[in-house]
Amino acid sequence: MLTVRAPATSANLGSGFDVFGAALERPADVVRVEKADRTTIEVTGVGSQYIPEDPEKNTVGAVVEALDAPAHVRIDKGVRPASGLGSSAASAAAAAVALNDLYDRGYTREELVPIAAEGEAVVSGDAHDDNVAPAIVGGFTVATDDGVRSVDADIPLVACLPDIVVSTRDARQVVPESASVAQLVETVGNAATLTVGMSRDDPDLVGAGMYESVVTPARAKLIDGYAAVREAALEAGATGVTISGAGPSVIAACHEGDRRGIGVAMLEAFESVGVEACVYTTRVGDGATVY
Ligand code: HSE
Repeated sequence: MLTVRAPATSANLGSGFDVFGAALERPADVVRVEKADRTTIEVTGVGSQYIPEDPEKNTVGAVVEALDAPAHVRIDKGVRPASGLGSSAASAAAAAVALNDLYDRGYTREELVPIAAEGEAVVSGDAHDDNVAPAIVGGFTVATDDGVRSVDADIPLVACLPDIVVSTRDARQVVPESASVAQLVETVGNAATLTVGMSRDDPDLVGAGMYESVVTPARAKLIDGYAAVREAALEAGATGVTISGAGPSVIAACHEGDRRGIGVAMLEAFESVGVEACVYTTRVGDGATVY
């Protein structure tokens, strides 16, 4: 029997649409696996009532298949589904790392990323590596068709999760089909700034590099109160604010001592438009951990 904790993650970070990701110190999913002749899946925890236990429909089922590793799998959800915090990726990542160890398959962490992404595709309809990469490898990750590059980073973050549901499928439908060269140049500059900031543990550069003017404004319309929450977080000292993944969570980069105040400001801003929310004061953290 083996237990693995895999963290929530924040994909995109604004300027790195479908490429950037960061592992969050918390929340996390915990997955326990035990060898079996036939795979069974049991789900408990936050939002578990919305998650199918049928291996054909669960994110972990495809991972079991890919690794040819039948098991009794227990998933304890700490990451709410459809939150923009990489919920399905956390389960898929934890299962991939756990089953790889349990069955001695010998894959490296990087090699497990596309395997876990297949699992995520079962629920999101599309295989994206930008959540599973940080959930497995940890730190700040750049996931492209060529593979995953990562750097450890120590950046304080606040993630605010409103009590609304935005599915990745819906959020992808509003992504504009084209962008201007000026927007492309701006985005490349911001993405590079953010990457330098992660490498230097510099929350000012990370925050400045989060700005993005193509995908984020289109998706912001799906999140009641987004503009007010962003404004409130910036006023409370956030160095940058954007949508986490496909939303509805909103993520802010900041300096250590400002996290609490920013969290309260974001909660109050959501409350002012009648939306309940919860907040995670967190930071860029480690990838999946085997116990
Ligand atoms: N990059 C994805 C999106 C996140 O924003 O749609 C989900 O993998």
